[in-house]
Amino acid sequence: MAKQMNSLVLSVLLLILFFSSSSSIPVNYNVLSFGAKPDGITDSTQAFVAAWAKACGSTAAATIYVPPGRFLLRNVVFKGQCKNNDITIRIDGILVAPADYRVIGNSGNWLFFDRVNGVSIYGGVLDGQGASLWACKKSGNKHCPSGATTLGFSSADDIVINGLTSLNSQMFHIVFNGCHNVKMQGVRVSASGNSPNTDGIHVQASSDVTILNSKIGTGDDCVSVGSGTTNLWIENVACGPGHGISIGSLGKELQEPGVQNVTVKTVTFTGTENGVRIKSWGRPSTGFARNILFQHVVMLNVRNPIIIDQNYCPNNKNCPGQASGVKISDVTYEDIHGTSATEVAIKFDCSSKNPCSGINLEDVKLTYKNQPAEASCSHADGTASGFVQPNSCLQL
Ligand SMILES: *[C@@H]1O[C@H](CO)[C@@H](O)[C@H](O)[C@H]1NC(C)=O
Repeated sequence: MAKQMNSLVLSVLLLILFFSSSSSIPVNYNVLSFGAKPDGITDSTQAFVAAWAKACGSTAAATIYVPPGRFLLRNVVFKGQCKNNDITIRIDGILVAPADYRVIGNSGNWLFFDRVNGVSIYGGVLDGQGASLWACKKSGNKHCPSGATTLGFSSADDIVINGLTSLNSQMFHIVFNGCHNVKMQGVRVSASGNSPNTDGIHVQASSDVTILNSKIGTGDDCVSVGSGTTNLWIENVACGPGHGISIGSLGKELQEPGVQNVTVKTVTFTGTENGVRIKSWGRPSTGFARNILFQHVVMLNVRNPIIIDQNYCPNNKNCPGQASGVKISDVTYEDIHGTSATEVAIKFDCSSKNPCSGINLEDVKLTYKNQPAEASCSHADGTASGFVQPNSCLQL
């Protein structure tokens, strides 16, 4: 009897397996079959939304295909949760934002992925057409919209971005907020060196994010790291023009999660405002930054190659006491070489209330006009080893 039951259970299981596997044949949706037009003129927003609805509603893995051509899109929300966690978006074409910045300028994000898991984007050019909004902002006009982030992910896990190009975003180019396990590779970001707030990649409240083999030139930070980020890995990135790679600004809020375990290695900065920076507001906060490694970095004519600035307080407003609560510890700078565009190549301006500790310099050589550059520091404690120049800050 038990034997018969077992074989019955087995056949039922096999049947379930058969049907579940037959229903998991991947499906493929071409945006053209939903009415998208590759002419750069026709609004293809509804076609993309419809293709997403199919892919997201599929119980099997799904691919959305965007063929060559220019596709005009207003802001789109790719919303989860989906019925599968394996959606590929393969883009051979160019997605173009409306030329009139007012159309998406107040919508926060142009292309926004919300609560999706297992989305991979391969290829594609995203053209945010931000130049006219930058001009509006620079003219001092108070009525310009703040602008849209080109590509945003919120509460999303297991994301892959491979070979994507983002051009001329109105605001930030690519943002991850509350995301886990993100792998970016071969990403290119390009915007003018004087375009306002056009950060390349911004990561906050996220863990296990990897950025590899990418080239970022923009008017603000190449990569900016917000509070609550852990296990971030950045490797083989070229940055410039731009404001460098920045952890911060941290400590704007009183209650704030910290930044922990960040590796930045094999990075070149060319003509940037900063190289590797940690920045916090000069205000009370529970925030922190610890276990940070900057390794194998080349600086080419960088204004502030190595900088910790804990006295950030624009317009000297809302910074009571002027001392940051953010605790910065265990930061290693190893094998950092090149040229500074200013005399002071290393600046540690730490909090008087929470001095920096465990700041380690190892094999650092930075010059200014073919002479050793200078270092300036306050409230910073740590060590120097190997050849370190300038070395006036830390005990040898
Ligand atoms: C630090 O982050 C990396 C990924 O960036 C991860 O491989 C490593 O395990 C993390 N280390 C710790 C101590 O969590």
